[in-house]
Amino acid sequence: MAIKITDKVTWVGKIDWELRNFHGEEYTTHRGSSYNSYLIHDDKTVLIDTVWEPFAEEFVENLKKEIDLNEIDYIVANHGEVDHSGALPLLMKEIPNVPIYCTVNGAKILKAHYHQDWNFETVKTGDELEIGKDNKLIFIEAKMLHWPDSMFTYMTGESILFSNDAFGQHYASDKLYNDLVDQAELYQEAIKYYANILTPFSPLVTNKIKEVLDFNLPVNMIATSHGVIWRNNPTQIIEKYLKWADAYQENQITIVYETMWHATRKMAEAIADGIKSVDNDVSVKLYNSATSDKNDVITELFKSKAMLIGCSTVNRSIMHATSGLLGMIKGIGFKNKKAAAFGSYGWGGESVKIITEGLKESKLEVVDDGIRVLWQPDEDSVERCKEYGRKFVKKL
Ligand code: FEO
Repeated sequence: MAIKITDKVTWVGKIDWELRNFHGEEYTTHRGSSYNSYLIHDDKTVLIDTVWEPFAEEFVENLKKEIDLNEIDYIVANHGEVDHSGALPLLMKEIPNVPIYCTVNGAKILKAHYHQDWNFETVKTGDELEIGKDNKLIFIEAKMLHWPDSMFTYMTGESILFSNDAFGQHYASDKLYNDLVDQAELYQEAIKYYANILTPFSPLVTNKIKEVLDFNLPVNMIATSHGVIWRNNPTQIIEKYLKWADAYQENQITIVYETMWHATRKMAEAIADGIKSVDNDVSVKLYNSATSDKNDVITELFKSKAMLIGCSTVNRSIMHATSGLLGMIKGIGFKNKKAAAFGSYGWGGESVKIITEGLKESKLEVVDDGIRVLWQPDEDSVERCKEYGRKFVKKL
């Protein structure tokens, strides 16, 4: 269903209520998502982005109800990833000669995905496209936010920034705007999106935002490609991004553990008790990495000033969820966070050393060699873990 967002711009995207995994199984989407596409009617008619391929047929059919496809003068592909370009093959069968505006990398990526010789018009930052008396489109490359081809498109007159993935949220809603949805849900999805997808590119986020702000362009709306459109105080999400990109942390310590017979869990709880006994203000959160959602755990680590990662030793190594988590931590590249390891063992006891090495490889500031407990913690070991927690706080 198309929804008019201004006199000249109509949302023609797709809300995907049932999506629960994105990027294969890499990102969980508890609240679904949307693929936002926009149709601009002015002297020229422009389509900005499309939707994911499973919804291509529905998308093109709905578009035909809105407009004769032959009236489309230009297509803007802000980003070549399939969730936004997936309907292009079907659409381009109907209007094969319509120019597709994208970056040089965008053309390469779209060609490599769909192997079609479409009419690409490549653009770079500052290039403009006249679309009517009061409106033109200005293109702004946003390389590595989050792909090499990513681009923003700014519509003058209406003052809308079509930001594609940036400022988005995987959040299905019948309400199209930020001011109409539950703010806790919105910000939970926005920070999860940033933590898991954009953290590795934080320095670029800061630079790009400063570059866009330097243009001094008024922004009435930030029309993202996922989730709601920021229309009420739209710059609030820009301000959040600047904070999130700047080695973000809250007064939180997150303890993530994996356990076979609960010994490492008991260690985690004792360490948490120790921390709380000397610092009642800090928020301490515990997660079992094997049973918790990996992307929610990453979000909590993103919010933390320090993390403790624990795991039993098994087969001279660590358990598989911990291994996966360490891989994610390394890839994401958190900044300004302290860390240490803990774990129970029966004989070899390698887990703490392996985790410690993993944390160092991830460029976290490892504060000590961690703590181990042989088999199940007795009263003395529980006390040792509490004391470890108390000392850990002092090292932050
Ligand atoms: Fe929403 Fe990078 O695609």
